[in-house]
Amino acid sequence: QADTKSEQYRPQFHFSPKAHWINDPNGMVYYKGTYHLFCQYYPDASVWGPMHWMHATSKDMVHWQEQPVALYPDSLGYIFSGSAVVDANNTSGFGKNGQVPMVAIFTHHNPKLEKSKPEQVQSQSLAYSLDDGKTWTKYAGNPVLPNPGITDFRDPKVRWYEAQKKWIMTLATKDRITFYSSPDLKSWSKESEFGSDAGAHGGVWECPDLFPLKHNGKDVWVLIVNINPGGPNKGSAAQYFLGDFDGKDFKAYSKETKWMDFGTDNYAGVTFSNTSNRVVLMGWMNNWQYANKVPTETWRGATTVPRDLGLKEAGKELYLTSTPVKELNALNGKTISLTNVNVKGSYDLTPKTGGKYDTFKLTLSAPATSDFSVILANEQGNEIIVGYDKGANTYYVDRTKSGKTDFEKDFGKRMTAPRLSTDKTISLTLLVDVASAELFADNGLTVMTGIFFPDKELSKLSVKSGTGIILSTLTYTKLAASVQ
Ligand code: FRU
Repeated sequence: QADTKSEQYRPQFHFSPKAHWINDPNGMVYYKGTYHLFCQYYPDASVWGPMHWMHATSKDMVHWQEQPVALYPDSLGYIFSGSAVVDANNTSGFGKNGQVPMVAIFTHHNPKLEKSKPEQVQSQSLAYSLDDGKTWTKYAGNPVLPNPGITDFRDPKVRWYEAQKKWIMTLATKDRITFYSSPDLKSWSKESEFGSDAGAHGGVWECPDLFPLKHNGKDVWVLIVNINPGGPNKGSAAQYFLGDFDGKDFKAYSKETKWMDFGTDNYAGVTFSNTSNRVVLMGWMNNWQYANKVPTETWRGATTVPRDLGLKEAGKELYLTSTPVKELNALNGKTISLTNVNVKGSYDLTPKTGGKYDTFKLTLSAPATSDFSVILANEQGNEIIVGYDKGANTYYVDRTKSGKTDFEKDFGKRMTAPRLSTDKTISLTLLVDVASAELFADNGLTVMTGIFFPDKELSKLSVKSGTGIILSTLTYTKLAASVQ
């Protein structure tokens, strides 16, 4: 078994498979004090292949334990993405003698039909667990939602709609979302469609999610739609819409796309079910543009940190915010707090912060009046730059000189994101885990996730500002590893 602590590029506080390939997080559900994570998984190689659902469990979404593979391909095909619910009322009837079933709703992808009947390849199926998620049995009546003739028909995200006591399935259907409902998870009726005339359409729509968040005491429904390609910095990304949902139709306040994460590496993110009013999302920290080629060899793929989702106004617009879950604070180690850091040109933080930058959190606040950047570097001249461009009013993550970039021609570049906040003060939280940076700006209004592959460990940390800037606060916190 791989020594997951010492491999180059191995995430230390993000979930990654001990070996081989993962993509989308699937079936995330909280039940009886345990968080379950399943992932698109190919156990025979470190590239995409016939999909399984791998399984991991955690008490805190931070320390994960790999479990036996939950779902294997079968005669109906590969096990593509989907969700899981706790069927508390046993609507499905899978529970016996008062048992509460956990039910997974996933896409069967039949490779045998790819050439002959492409419009029948994908259908929706069920599996259930009667032992709190340990083992899973596929439903004998699969598929429960056969394909009506649509080539891309996948990634069911199911939730209970209490007002009408029915299940709602949000399904990606090529260039739009189709909503279905069901009394028992087994028979599904079409309710409505959304999106053929809204949002970004630079690629196929995948992995949607639908959930309410409170804003000024009222429910605002969030519809997340992952899209590949067509993201704001190319390749895969997650757009979202805000609106109303009445059990039948989703009515967006606006047809314009908003982006949940402007970085290149937060894809297929969806939320945990059964977490009460809390909405927590994890994505796949990768991009289909290069996921099969990233320079990790014994495994490929990791999830993002879990993120609490919320709503916040900026300017006159309402936005979705993402912030790292507080459970991550359990990893906090030695902290160095500085105030009024006067950056004239360049300020070297290396002597104060120790010179080893595998896992840490950096938070800072600064006036939104000047350019500045945080630079992570090493003796080999690799640089990862996270900054604010005052003229353009954008944040950026620059991995042009970040080390290994040549596995994909578009990898070594600067990705940018608009600053949405209108506050006078910028606040940034940056999480770094060996080969990834997650930037949460302005309390999660602008988010960027990017992976990178330095030739050697990062050993230098500095802040730069050509015009000069005073950072009112700067806190560096060493983070402990959570992988075993
Ligand atoms: C998204 C996706 C899903 C599909 C799965 C296949 O990354 O393409 O739409 O179900 O991956 O592995």
